[in-house]
Amino acid sequence: MIDIRALTDMTYGLFIVGATKDGKINAMIANSVFQVTAEPPKIAIALNKQSLTHDYIKETGLFCVQPIAQEANMIFLGNFGFRTGKNYDKFAKVSYKLSAQGLPIVLENTLSWMSVKVNQTIDLGTHTLFIGLVEDTQVIKEGKPLTYDYYQCVLRGKTPRGATTFKENKEK
Ligand SMILES: Cc1cc2nc3c(=O)[nH]c(=O)nc-3n(C[C@H](O)[C@H](O)[C@H](O)COP(=O)(O)O)c2cc1C
Repeated sequence: MIDIRALTDMTYGLFIVGATKDGKINAMIANSVFQVTAEPPKIAIALNKQSLTHDYIKETGLFCVQPIAQEANMIFLGNFGFRTGKNYDKFAKVSYKLSAQGLPIVLENTLSWMSVKVNQTIDLGTHTLFIGLVEDTQVIKEGKPLTYDYYQCVLRGKTPRGATTFKENKEK
């Protein structure tokens, strides 16, 4: 028997995951982002196969992860988490720069960035788990990182279809 409350007790951070392909850039919000080893530092991310960011990463084997600052508001979060870059430019009103590899680095409401080179890809059905080596990092500013709990309980944010934790009709 599965009591879904056991899963909703799990805690996460919230991150921007960015990617590039053929000079185009895109980014999305993800909570399923975590460090899996320290030596060497490796990061894993679980992305829905329908997201554009997923396609860019699958193609290039590169992505950028940015912990989001707690002061980020719902307009900023909705821009990256509820819109798809397939039909919308998420960077039109956001300040950003490009890494040496052309990955988008969001300069507002983020604390740092790390660029990651994928060296393992695991098919999870609806999602793909990309695991990779951290190649480059930089701190943007000091601050408190946004947690999924703060997003849900204080900002009253919802979880869209496609997120790893989405539940039909029961979204928190
Ligand atoms: C709070 C929050 C957490 C999310 N977590 C994930 C996640 O871990 N994995 C995922 O694939 N999508 C997640 N999403 C959904 C994507 O951000 C969303 O599908 C986005 O529109 C994809 O954009 P793209 O098609 O431009 O790549 C989350 C969204 C929000 C708001």
